Amino acid sequence: MAVSKAFIQDLHDRLRIEDVVSSYVNLTRAGKNMKGLCPFHNEKTASFTIFPDTNSFYCFGCGAGGDVINFIMRMENLDYVEALKRGADLAGISMPDDGYDDSYAKIRLRILSANREAARFFNSELYKKENAHALEYYAKRGLSVKTITHFGLGYAPDDWHALTNYLKSKGYTEQDLVLANLARRRDGKSGCYDNFRNRIMFPIIDLRGNVVAFSGRVLDDSKPKYVNTSDTPVYKKGNVIFGLNFAKNNSEKKLIVVEGQMDVIALHQAGFTNAVACLGTAFTSEQANILSRYADEVLICYDNDEAGKKATARVLSILNNTGIRTKVINMEGGKDPDEIIRNYGRERFISLIEGAANRVEYALNEQMRHFDIRTDDGKAKFLSSAAEILAGCSPVERDIYSLRLSNEFGISKEALEGQIKMAYGKLRKRRKAERERDEFEVITNSFEDKNNPQKAGNLRAAKAEERLITSLMKNPAFYKDIKDKFTPDDFITDFNKRVITHLIYLIENNYATTPAMFASEFSADEMGTISLLEVNGELIGNTVKECEDCIAVLKQEAAKGTANPAEMSDAEFLNSFKK
Ligand code: GTP
Ligand code: MN
Repeated sequence: MAVSKAFIQDLHDRLRIEDVVSSYVNLTRAGKNMKGLCPFHNEKTASFTIFPDTNSFYCFGCGAGGDVINFIMRMENLDYVEALKRGADLAGISMPDDGYDDSYAKIRLRILSANREAARFFNSELYKKENAHALEYYAKRGLSVKTITHFGLGYAPDDWHALTNYLKSKGYTEQDLVLANLARRRDGKSGCYDNFRNRIMFPIIDLRGNVVAFSGRVLDDSKPKYVNTSDTPVYKKGNVIFGLNFAKNNSEKKLIVVEGQMDVIALHQAGFTNAVACLGTAFTSEQANILSRYADEVLICYDNDEAGKKATARVLSILNNTGIRTKVINMEGGKDPDEIIRNYGRERFISLIEGAANRVEYALNEQMRHFDIRTDDGKAKFLSSAAEILAGCSPVERDIYSLRLSNEFGISKEALEGQIKMAYGKLRKRRKAERERDEFEVITNSFEDKNNPQKAGNLRAAKAEERLITSLMKNPAFYKDIKDKFTPDDFITDFNKRVITHLIYLIENNYATTPAMFASEFSADEMGTISLLEVNGELIGNTVKECEDCIAVLKQEAAKGTANPAEMSDAEFLNSFKK
C-alpha cells in the first residue's frame, strides 16, 4: 500500500496515542507509561499499556498491540487506510490522495447506502394496503406512527424477491446485497433471495447515523422470533448498541439498559429517551466501554426471568470494571419494560427507577432468595454469604450494610464484621492466585506466537532474531557497526525475516523505528507481536556486543540446518536440543 512514510511520521508527530485512547479507555499513569483496562478483551486488572515514547500500545493480557492507527482500526472496525484518514481528521491534517487502495472502503460505503435504501423501502411497505396487517401489529403493540417514523421501523413483505428487485432497480448488484446480508445466495444455483421476509423491521443505527444492520421480528409466535443481520464489513455483533444514537444526547449521563429493541422503543415513546439495548450477543466489554463514554450511571433493566437474572449478573460484573455506577431495576408486574409500560403506564416505571437497587443491595437481595431466612439455619447461611459479598466492597459500603443487616436480623454488628474479615482473607488469596495465573498466561503466550508459527520449533533462533530486532529498533545507530556481519537471509523464521527487512529499510532511509512505521506493511494482528518486540526493549542490555552475540547464535542455528531428526544419530539428536 502506497502511503508515504513521511506522511505517517508527520501524522504521528501530531496525533498522541494517549489523547486518542483516553476518549475510549480510562487511563492512569504508570511511570512514564499509562495503563487501563483493555478494550479488546475482558479483564479485571489493567494490562493494556500505552507507551507515549513510541506512540504505541500493547496489551499484556491478549497480545493486541500496535500504533495509534492500529488502535483506531480495532476500536472502530476500520481498515488501515480508513483509520489513517480518521487519524488525519483527528490531527487536523489532510491525507495525500496518491493511489492507495480504498476498494474496501468503497464496498463499505455501498453497503451503508444499500442499507439506507432498504430501510426506506421497509418503511414505505408498511403503508401499503396489502400490508395493513403489519401496521395493525404495531398498533396492537401500542406504537404510534410518530414512534415508527422516529425509529425508521418498517415491514419486509412476504416475498422472496421484493427487496432484491427493488435495490437492483436502484443500481445495486447482487454482490452488494449479499455482502450487506440483505439477500442470500441460493445454494449451488445462480441468483439470490431476500433475507428478511414477512417480518417487522428494526434498522440498527450507529452513532454516526449509519444504518449498519437490521433486526426482523415475526408477527406471530413462529420461530425464530428474530432474524438479525450477521457480521458484515460494516457491522460486528457486540459493538453496536441499539438506541444509543438517540440516548447519547441525554444530559444526565444516565442510561437504562434493557434486553430487547421493543423495550427500547416502548421506553422512548413513554419519554425515557435514555434507554438502550445491547443486541446480538451476551454483553461484551466492548459495549461496556462504549457505555462508559456516554454514562456515569447505568440502570440495568433486564427481563424478569432466570435468563434475565443471569444476564444482569454478567452486565454487573463487566460494568464494575469500568467505574460506571450501576443500579438494578426490580421489575414487578411484567416480564419486561415494554409490558410494564403498556400495563401500568409510565408512572409505574418512574417508581421502579426510584426504587432501583444499587450493586450491593442487588447482590444481597439475590443471595437472600436462595435461603429460607425465617429459620435460624437459613439466616446464618445467608449472613455468611452476605459477608462474602461485603468482603469485596469498599470500607464505607461494608460499614453501611453491616449496620443495616445487623439491625434487620437482630445480630451484633461486631459479629458480622468478624465474619467479613474472614471472608476478606479468603478473597485476597483467591485474587492473588488469579493474578499469578494471568501472569503465567502472558509468559506462555509469548512462546506460542500465532504470527510467527515457526517460533515454537526454532525457539533459540527466534529469540536471537527478536533480540536483534528489538536492539535495532531501540538503537538504530548500532546498525552501521553490524550491517556487514549479517543479512535478513540469516534469519530463520519467515515472520522475523520480514520484520528485519522492513526495519533495515527504515534505518537506511532515516525513518523512525517505532511501531507506527510498520503499521502499513503488517496486519493488525501482526502489529501485536511487533509492539511486543518494541516493548521488550526495556528489558535488554542494548549494546552492539549483544547484537553480535545474536548474529552468532543465528549462524550456529543455521549450521545445524534443517537436519532430519530421523537421520540423526542418537547423540546428534540429543545434541540438537542443547542451547
Ligand atoms: P417482544 O416479544 O417483541 O416483546 O420482544 P422482546 O424484546 O421482549 O423479546 P425477548 O425478551 O424474547 O428477547 C429479547 C431480545 O433477545 C430480543 O429483542 C432480541 O434482540 C433477542 N432475541 C430474542 N429472540 C431471538 C431469536 O430468536 N433470535 C435472535 N437472534 N435474537 C433473539
Ligand atoms: Mn417483550
